[in-house]
Amino acid sequence: MENRKNRTIYGRRQSRPLRDSQKNLWEKLFNDIKIDLQNLPASYSENIIFEIGFGGGENLAHQAMNNPDYTCIGCEPFINGVSSLLTKIAKDNITNIKIFDDDATILLKLMPDQLIKKMFILFPDPWPKKRHNRRRVVSLENLLLIRQKMQTAGELIIATDHPGYLEWIIAIIEQPIFLKNFKVVHTPDSPRPSEEEIPVTRYEKKALENRPGAFFKFCAI
Ligand SMILES: C[S@@+](CC[C@H](N)C(=O)[O-])C[C@H]1O[C@@H](n2cnc3c(N)ncnc32)[C@H](O)[C@@H]1O
Repeated sequence: MENRKNRTIYGRRQSRPLRDSQKNLWEKLFNDIKIDLQNLPASYSENIIFEIGFGGGENLAHQAMNNPDYTCIGCEPFINGVSSLLTKIAKDNITNIKIFDDDATILLKLMPDQLIKKMFILFPDPWPKKRHNRRRVVSLENLLLIRQKMQTAGELIIATDHPGYLEWIIAIIEQPIFLKNFKVVHTPDSPRPSEEEIPVTRYEKKALENRPGAFFKFCAI
């Protein structure tokens, strides 16, 4: 059994039950792709892309196909999202994705420092109620953990469509300790990064009906 002690997931784990075809694919593929905390690799590739909360996996699948010499690690506790990604992996024969189906910070803490080249946190759950703000995955503590695990000059990309979360991110990235660790290279004042660089996810498409996404890019220093 994996150690789930420090688990800090607040969102739902599953919505609708998986169809038989999805269950079959899960049984066929997931064991080979999943990251098992009891059996972490002794050494890692030097090229790692990491995504926290990949949702349906649109971005992770895109990154994996466009960066065949990278290992793309995605964390997502939502089973229906993992299942969607497994469907994409099977359809496009993707071989460079690894999945951790739980809280990304558990895995990050166990990974070597100075490893990850590119990190994505796209449209994290907004937790709009003030009393739930603490549940947000973007926090100073988590960003400093992420920095510790990133290579110098690595890139961190964060996007949100939620005005309250946008203010929250700005308040964090203005702190001197954040600016000691990251240089701000792209703010929502600039146009959205190209779809070649970051595809529009299902969540972003839905959000776009109401408000555009705000994208930040930071370079680890
Ligand atoms: C609003 S969805 C966005 C999904 C995707 N990034 C997109 O743009 O379509 C946020 C996702 O983050 C996942 N999530 C929340 N907390 C997480 C954590 N601590 N580690 C990994 N994933 C997490 C949720 O399960 C959810 O699927």
